[in-house]
Amino acid sequence: MRAKFSGRIIGCGMSVPEKVLTNFDLEKIVETSDEWITERTGIKERHILRDDEVISTFAIEASKEALNEANLQPEDINLIITATLTPDFLMPSLAILIQNGIGAGRAGAFDLSATCSGFLYALILADQIVKNNPDWHILVVGAEALSRKTNWEDRTTCVLFGDGAGAVVVGGDPSGEKGVIDFILGADGSNWQLLTLKGGGSAYFPFDERLPKDEHYIKMQGREVFKIATRMMEKIALELLERNGLKANDLSLVIPHQANLRIIEYLRERLDLPKEKVFVNIDRYGNTSAASIPIALYEARKQGRIKDGDLLLLVAFGGGFTFAGLLMRW
Ligand code: UT7
Repeated sequence: MRAKFSGRIIGCGMSVPEKVLTNFDLEKIVETSDEWITERTGIKERHILRDDEVISTFAIEASKEALNEANLQPEDINLIITATLTPDFLMPSLAILIQNGIGAGRAGAFDLSATCSGFLYALILADQIVKNNPDWHILVVGAEALSRKTNWEDRTTCVLFGDGAGAVVVGGDPSGEKGVIDFILGADGSNWQLLTLKGGGSAYFPFDERLPKDEHYIKMQGREVFKIATRMMEKIALELLERNGLKANDLSLVIPHQANLRIIEYLRERLDLPKEKVFVNIDRYGNTSAASIPIALYEARKQGRIKDGDLLLLVAFGGGFTFAGLLMRW
């Protein structure tokens, strides 16, 4: 039975660095081509930080915009959850920098690490907290600076990632008619070696010579990850639809994690949905991990593709592996 209160999104924001790296720019850095990247990934360009920029600046910008749209003051925020695997520092957390940056003096703040599924993990958590505390406002941010963890000599990964931040404010809906309807949240660590970022963790000392230099960057066995990602994205979507007695066609819009256009297209075909029902912006941002869904959500709204009462399906998959899906009434 549905709880009386559910968490709904009452404000959205996004912010990305100004600097754009196109596929043609990448042709000058590694042996690749615009044609290969476009065909294999759907990416044309991505935003990346300048050397003197940090991702907290953009996370704060996105948060302020979300707060503004929600018509709230920083003191109205009770909790900040930031999904990221690339915070400015390991300590303090990115959520703390956001708390300070927006002046949310009454808010608790912590980071959550669940790779590309991190934003959905955070949104699910926020919904559950709001169910028990319907007058709370929770700022949920997805922000990544993947360009700082990219090996610019590895053409198999450096063409994929981008930087950016998206934020939403979650508040209670007393009618219980809007907000999160159902969710799936999961993980499978049996293949964790397929996608790693080992440098910066505590298995090794700083400057530890036992750790090969390329392990300070994101490493991925793309083909293997691709196979698991396509399977999982479909499984989550179908399971959520089935257990809620819905058909794919009942959905107003699907917002998938933007990792690869071919993964998104596979999902769309399996759900037998027309192109306009599945949101895509990977061409302009690349894979921004935890930031990808809030950025997509923001753009979908700006483009008028989400209206009051719409039924949305959000679905993500990422390193770990982690996966998550969420059905929501807007
Ligand atoms: O964010 C969540 C987790 N991430 C994902 O879900 C990403 C999943 N994986 C993928 O999106 C795809 O596997 C990639 C886009 C990473 C790679 O596409 P692919 O179609 O799986 O290519 P591949 O790895 O099978 O490589 C095919 C060929 C190889 O050459 P050979 O061995 O066939 O001669 C690669 O060396 O393409 C080559 N290649 C490239 N060529 C030009 C790999 N990267 C590049 C490149 N430019 N950037």
